[in-house]
Amino acid sequence: MIQELKELAQRAETELQGAHTEEALNVLRTKYLGRKGLLTQMLRQLGSVSTTERPLFGRLSNEIKEKISASLDAALERIKDSRRNELLCREAIDITLPGRAVRIGHRHPVTQVMEEICGIFSRLGFTVEEGPEIETDYYNFEALNIPKDHPARDMQDTFYVEDNIVLRTHTSPVQIRTMEKMQPPVRILSPGKVYRPDSDVSHTPMFHQIEGLLVDRGITFGDLKGTLTFFLQEVFGADILLRFRPSFFPFTEPSAEVDIRCVMCGGEGCRVCGQSGWLEILGSGMVDPAVFANVGYDPEGYSGFAFGLGVERIAMLKYGISDIRLFFDNDVRFLEQF
Ligand code: FA5
Ligand code: MG
Repeated sequence: MIQELKELAQRAETELQGAHTEEALNVLRTKYLGRKGLLTQMLRQLGSVSTTERPLFGRLSNEIKEKISASLDAALERIKDSRRNELLCREAIDITLPGRAVRIGHRHPVTQVMEEICGIFSRLGFTVEEGPEIETDYYNFEALNIPKDHPARDMQDTFYVEDNIVLRTHTSPVQIRTMEKMQPPVRILSPGKVYRPDSDVSHTPMFHQIEGLLVDRGITFGDLKGTLTFFLQEVFGADILLRFRPSFFPFTEPSAEVDIRCVMCGGEGCRVCGQSGWLEILGSGMVDPAVFANVGYDPEGYSGFAFGLGVERIAMLKYGISDIRLFFDNDVRFLEQF
């Protein structure tokens, strides 16, 4: 009987080695340890074992029962383990793969040019002032010596919000707002958006201007010319070809517009410069005494110059852009280049 018991243990051990699934292990558990299992059946025969062998038989069968049970538990644990591992491997994230690069944006070319311009003038002692984009007729026109029904109103087509409210057509109203609250000397710069019903290769309905105003005693046209020439040489280099062209603005006298040699055609004449070989980038002039009178400055004691420059025009020339509207299409392939 003892021998039989040992053989049974041996067989169980061998079969266990060959069992690789949970089901197979369960079958083995029933086969050996179940109520009708082989070991159970053998234990039932305890009565027929001789009294001398009985204690040994009892102890041995208990040991074997425990051993088989422990082996079954261990094998089951191993199967569960390997199944869990397999699952983990399948779901694993390969952290050695290179990540997707985050595309970092940058400032819009128009913003970049604006910041560059403000930087140059701030080195000359100009500080920044801001004004509203929705402006009254008074600040946009009247105070700048452009009365109603004056033909000069036709110079700038206007978006009207209400009868006396406009989308400002230029940054010049900031001149008035500044002088109303500040006594000379004045040395300010005012960047911002302006609006006109315009659209072609060199005009957009919204664009940016930077206004400059300098008022002090004894300011001359020479100061205007020197300041603007210095500024343009800073932006475009000392070799830049530019011209001061006599012009007219109701709020300056005398007035001049500044043109820069068209970079697209080098002066030959093209679509961008309207065949003229030059691109207008700013208007300027000596502040008209009538404007001083509107803000309560003494025209006898003070003089000054003002200018208003087109930021997109400068950006076009700086980067050789042939259509101003590209700045506002928001095509990333275009914007990425700056
Ligand atoms: C004026 O707006 C005056 N306020 C400038 C000024 C200020 C003169 C102070 C004297 C003293 P003008 O309309 O020319 O001037 O516009 C100024 C500049 O804005 C132009 O030289 C041009 O570079 C730019 N500009 C004008 N219209 C457009 C447009 N539709 N799109 C893009 N740029 C424009
Ligand atoms: Mg002009």
